[in-house]
Amino acid sequence: MKRKIIIDCDPGIDDSLAIMMALSHPDIEVLGITIVAGNCPVEMGFSNAKKILKFMNRLDVPVFSGASQPLKRNYINALDTHGSDGLGESFLEEIEGYEQKEDAISFLSNTLKKEKCSIIAIGPLTNLALLLKKDKEAYDNIEQLISMGGNYKSHGNCSPVAEYNYWCDPDAASLVYNSGKKIHMVGLDVTRKIVLTPKRLDYMKKENPRVGNFVEKITKFYFQFHLEWEHLVGCVINDPLAIAYFIDPSICSGFESFVQIETKSLSIGQSIVDDHNFYRKQANAFICTQVNEEKFFNLFYDCLLRRIK
Ligand code: BDR
Ligand code: CA
Repeated sequence: MKRKIIIDCDPGIDDSLAIMMALSHPDIEVLGITIVAGNCPVEMGFSNAKKILKFMNRLDVPVFSGASQPLKRNYINALDTHGSDGLGESFLEEIEGYEQKEDAISFLSNTLKKEKCSIIAIGPLTNLALLLKKDKEAYDNIEQLISMGGNYKSHGNCSPVAEYNYWCDPDAASLVYNSGKKIHMVGLDVTRKIVLTPKRLDYMKKENPRVGNFVEKITKFYFQFHLEWEHLVGCVINDPLAIAYFIDPSICSGFESFVQIETKSLSIGQSIVDDHNFYRKQANAFICTQVNEEKFFNLFYDCLLRRIK
């Protein structure tokens, strides 16, 4: 039986790779894609999701727009990282005539009350925080909650201590971490190891030119950004790791801990992991600290290169 998921995202270059991965894995059924303001404004994220679905020939998968701004903080996008169109300045053709009937929060709440389903959140946690406020019963039904976000020992990517998804909406992240639901935190400690290098991209182009060329088109800008800002030859593709971890949890290892998200001050958005149990609080998260890169890339290639025609 397929495991059902909703992908809550802000596509986004790496979000798009995560969507492609999830849609092509035989054990997963994507019930819908919900969009949150993050890397790009919510309307842009919505159009980008449709562009990816078109490439995948999966326009049957519904997409729902959610929050257009963080709960309290002023919205700061990440178009500097993802390009002015949010998809690496690939300027793919807009997909017309695809209407949505519901907003993301009501889709989440109706679906979670109807069926067993997990959420893989790879953007800021605003939609989930809104769901929690609106319909705790539906929120509590989430089977497994995986969040790409935060950092434990790794440095941040928006400040010395904060990762983008939690930094963008720290109040939402804080609510979700205090919700009583265990969060699988796939943070920068593990995602920084997932580097799409030029060599890997060449391999992808050779193995499956249609997919490889598409991935090149949407990651070109990302490669440039990483070279300039991180002095890295290649790009860190964070979000697909959250999907891979859902498919095969043995890809990451880690430990359980109580985590709090800083909502004010200089360290806003920081995920503070109480690894020494100072607060004597029950663990609310599983922190991924190690990743088996080879296992990840084998799964990634299997999904993208061999299952997408
Ligand atoms: C996260 O922020 C975004 O830029 C990426 O899509 C990823 O979800 C990494 O910090
Ligand atoms: Ca993302």
